[in-house]
Amino acid sequence: LQEEASSAIASADDLDQLRELKVKYLGKKGELTAVLRGMGSLSPEERPVIGGLANEIRGKLESLIAEKEEALEEAALETRLQEEKIDITLPGVPRVAGSIHPLNLIIEQIEDIFVGMGFEVAEGTEVEVDYYNFEALNIPKDHPARDMQDSFYITPEILLRTHTSPVQVRTLEAKEGYVPVRIICPGKVYRRDDDDATHSHQFTQIEGLVVDRGVSMSELNGVLLSFIEKIFGEGTEMRLRPSYFPFTEPSVEVDIYHPEKGWVEILGAGMVHPRVLEKAGYNPERYTGFAFGMGVERIAMLKYDIDDIRHFYNNDLRFLRQFRSV
Ligand code: PHE
Repeated sequence: LQEEASSAIASADDLDQLRELKVKYLGKKGELTAVLRGMGSLSPEERPVIGGLANEIRGKLESLIAEKEEALEEAALETRLQEEKIDITLPGVPRVAGSIHPLNLIIEQIEDIFVGMGFEVAEGTEVEVDYYNFEALNIPKDHPARDMQDSFYITPEILLRTHTSPVQVRTLEAKEGYVPVRIICPGKVYRRDDDDATHSHQFTQIEGLVVDRGVSMSELNGVLLSFIEKIFGEGTEMRLRPSYFPFTEPSVEVDIYHPEKGWVEILGAGMVHPRVLEKAGYNPERYTGFAFGMGVERIAMLKYDIDDIRHFYNNDLRFLRQFRSV
């Protein structure tokens, strides 16, 4: 029995087989157990001899099984490690990475430029009350300037903001009369326009506002020129044309010289109107400021030679992918 069991254990080639053998020889109904059970029918002299022998065999088989078990487990681990080995020389599956939307790209560039000049980035709300969008900016109810910006009204007092200028007022109020105020604010604006290659009922602006003691038109000129040179390249020419906005006085329109298109307007600006400062709680005798507002799409279109504003909103991957490496 011992020999038969030993060779069976030695030739077991997996853990299941070994477990079966354990049951077969050492289990409750196993062969060795049967021998021990049968001891009752032996003579008193035979019993200790047979019993001792049986126990000895049991011990041997048990240690044989344990040894084999260890060897098989080790082998199993080894084959698993081999099977699960990763072949690092296999070519990978390329993952398609998205890219930053050109509008966000240009907003980030513009933010970086102004942050470099000491501006902070502020935020406003797209749904605005009439007071901030118009009233506080010196555009009363019957003012013809309201026609310049056809609006989407939600209620008679609430509308989608037509420009980012309400953030000027919100920022001044939040600063509670303290200076300096130096912010830019990017955001979406809405106007009732028929969409075409150059118009969109929703577009993006970046507002700028500086209020402090002794802020002058020449500082506005300097800030805008260094911004324009950083965005469109060193040496880009800029000109200011007199214009009109109810919330700035004097007001200007700012053009850059584009090698193919000639002079093109890129933003509106001016010295903050004393009435705007006053309404927001700043003494216009003591403080002055300038403000500007630019169309982000317009700037991106000029910089990247994009011919249709609708490209920004159509999510055509052929368009978007071109900005991957920018
Ligand atoms: N809010 C003006 C517009 O949308 C732009 C502007 C901003 C002009 C700030 C002057 C000062 O047209």
